[in-house]
Amino acid sequence: MKAIAVKPRNPNSVHLAELAKPKLSDVPNGRGVLVKVLKVGVDATDREINEGLYGNPPPGYDFLVMGHESFGIVEEVGPNVRHVKPGDYVTCTVRRPGGSIFDRIGHSDMTSEETYYERGINLLHGYMTEHYVDDAEFVIRVPAALKHLGVLAEPMSVAEKAVQQVYEAQRRLQVWEPKVAYVLGSGQIGLLSTLILRLRGVEVYTIARGAKPNLKSEIAEAYGAKYVNGSLADIAKQTGAPDLIVEATGNSAIAFEAMTVLGRNGAIVWTSITGGQRKTEVPTDKINLEWVLGNKLLLGSVNANFRHFEAGISDMAQGEIFYPGVTQKILTTPVNGLDNYREMMRQLVEAKEALKVYVNVAEG
Ligand code: BGC
Ligand code: ZN
Repeated sequence: MKAIAVKPRNPNSVHLAELAKPKLSDVPNGRGVLVKVLKVGVDATDREINEGLYGNPPPGYDFLVMGHESFGIVEEVGPNVRHVKPGDYVTCTVRRPGGSIFDRIGHSDMTSEETYYERGINLLHGYMTEHYVDDAEFVIRVPAALKHLGVLAEPMSVAEKAVQQVYEAQRRLQVWEPKVAYVLGSGQIGLLSTLILRLRGVEVYTIARGAKPNLKSEIAEAYGAKYVNGSLADIAKQTGAPDLIVEATGNSAIAFEAMTVLGRNGAIVWTSITGGQRKTEVPTDKINLEWVLGNKLLLGSVNANFRHFEAGISDMAQGEIFYPGVTQKILTTPVNGLDNYREMMRQLVEAKEALKVYVNVAEG
């Protein structure tokens, strides 16, 4: 079967590879799920992998099958699989367990080991192919009524984890009811975080570079957020210091700048994956003083486990009720068929207005 692959650490190596079709018996104990791939999304991580900055092939291979944002339909299940059956729509988690205690309790997103295993990113082949087989433990059901949003389940899970982690960490305050949140960045993680926070009743400012009106401002505002651009300091003068900041710009300088505007008892969650070498000047005395005097919190959040996928799917469903038809506007740029891998990469790299590039692998 066909697959879109790259040679990690070799810039611009995207190509079509040939793989053997996987079998249910590749997964032990009758726990296999064979999935026909329908759609696979790409994001900035895939762009960095194709630029040769990030990612590694599985041991014994000189190429890596791309794709960590998957949507498909179950074709076959092993005798010990209960929660999905043939004909169900599904998505699949990205990380696979290593050896730490976190890995062993289903929280490989929190692994304490340096080496992490991620399908389509690091040491494991991804989903950008015709079929895959995985352990039922990693396969999440997507309701048929959300089929049109299924390819967003993975980025949604990442945003969901980030927001959940912040609320979890803020239990340190006994009472914490964030009123004003900034979401920095209006890519998929920024917009989906905007949705999640709006569903929790927070006043959200989605802060991005592009002047409105544009598609991103249209989506953020349809979720009931305010889309603004300008310097964080100026915006904070207008809104008051935010209680919560979700950083999703992909720019580490902005991640640090966020620390200069956060309110007392507030929290920032960083989600950007920055493979580069950027350096920047930071007002360390000022930040240190304000952060100590204000009991402020910074946390990083990566990846997502099975439960974050479920919560993300449930919030996408709630999003369809509160803001019908909005989330699908993120799906700007379909590419038809694995054979069009060059076009997929071209859109991902060049099309500045593309919000989500994804490959329609098969009908279904
Ligand atoms: C993926 C995550 C992954 C992270 C780091 C992101 O693009 O969505 O699942 O953990 O990259 O590799
Ligand atoms: Zn991603």
